[in-house]
Amino acid sequence: MSEQALTGVVGTGGRELEIGRALAASGDVDIVYFFGGNAGMDEMPRGMNIPDISSSNYGAIVDFAAERDLFVVLGPEQPIVDGLGERLRERGLSVFAPSPEAGRLESSKAWAVEFMRQHGIPHPASFIARSAVNAADYMRSKRAAEYVIKADGLAGGKGAFLEDSDEEAEQIVYGLMSGDLLKGAGKTIVFQERLHGPEASAFVISDGENWFLIPYISQDHKRLEDGDTGAMTGGVGAYAPVPETVVNARQLEKIKDIAAKTIEGMQVEGKPYVGALYLGLMMAEEYDGDPMVIEYNVRFGDPEAEVVLPLLERSGVNIYNLLRSASDGELDVPTHVRAAGQAALTVCLSANGYPEAPVIGEEVYGLRQDRRDVIVHHAGTKLNADGRVVTSGGRSLFITGFGETPDEAAARAYAAIDFHRLGPDSDRIGFKDMQFRRDI
Ligand code: AMP
Ligand code: GLY
Repeated sequence: MSEQALTGVVGTGGRELEIGRALAASGDVDIVYFFGGNAGMDEMPRGMNIPDISSSNYGAIVDFAAERDLFVVLGPEQPIVDGLGERLRERGLSVFAPSPEAGRLESSKAWAVEFMRQHGIPHPASFIARSAVNAADYMRSKRAAEYVIKADGLAGGKGAFLEDSDEEAEQIVYGLMSGDLLKGAGKTIVFQERLHGPEASAFVISDGENWFLIPYISQDHKRLEDGDTGAMTGGVGAYAPVPETVVNARQLEKIKDIAAKTIEGMQVEGKPYVGALYLGLMMAEEYDGDPMVIEYNVRFGDPEAEVVLPLLERSGVNIYNLLRSASDGELDVPTHVRAAGQAALTVCLSANGYPEAPVIGEEVYGLRQDRRDVIVHHAGTKLNADGRVVTSGGRSLFITGFGETPDEAAARAYAAIDFHRLGPDSDRIGFKDMQFRRDI
């Protein structure tokens, strides 16, 4: 038998399911282990879910991985920032994740702003306030609608505030600085000029020195309701690639320049960046449509990974080889990516009450396996005692469709969803009182 790698993916959502699926699909991987994973991970071919080790039980994960010499991919930011990658590396394992030091690009927005200033990376004009007096000075000089308020630390996607009234802005800043909002993530605040224009997410894979910009640029949908209204969420839909009206060839060159400067800058800082780097970009009207970095994340996006990784795989890239070579310090940069004629789109089925108070435990119906050009990305699901799939988290499932155009991909995704809420008699996927956007 040829040597087949044993791998592990840390994290339990749709992004991690996709990373595992893509690793297994490479043909070079024998088993993908998951820890405390979702129902889709339980059922994945070549997947093996270890229910007794939760994804936050780092000690047990390190021992398990070291015993089997796993190649490990960290999905979410928390284990990265907590140093799980370093603990695994100390045991001699190959790990796809940046160090916590490199993770500061996400774990401290103030640090990221200073880094971008230092290395000439385009970003919105920013003011870092480390005291209430500083913050008050800044707020006196501007109207609330001119700026964005950002908590410095990790806030699970809830750290940015766009207020239009000066009073509300003051309330937010007071809440952040006093620790009432976000448990201290906002003791330091970054104020940023408020820009306008389309947003896009780009992913860079790096071994610390060499890098590869994944040519599929995606767009996330963060608002719960159609027409980009309703509550802010972790992302309830995404598609790729974005059209030329969002990112054209000129803008793409500038995004590559941002990638180059970031990877080089991190080397200069003595924090070489190994892993997936997420560039959250706005094509700012105020700057002639130039891409500006509005955030860095130190991991793949969720749900952007669910559309971008399958497209990359379909264009002939071996995802295991890509991630492994980056982790081992010798990135095998894909040279022949067939980027044309492929699009993907994913729609989140979320629980009633999400994001504030999701109602979980509903049985999921319609999970047939045989739909053409659809991947069902389980996120917040689990198998109950009878072996049935039930919801266990707010963002329960992502239904991902593929086609030659985003419209065709959308048609495939929606055709798999119980759009008219017929219930268990429908042969399409759904669960009781689910929410989903109709306009991804
Ligand atoms: P963040 O947590 O930094 O990704 O911000 C969340 C959302 O706030 C972004 O997706 C944007 O829609 C918005 N945002 C962040 N920074 C800015 C900015 N400087 N100008 C306008 N909108 C912004
Ligand atoms: N979808 C946004 C994120 O992963 O941060």
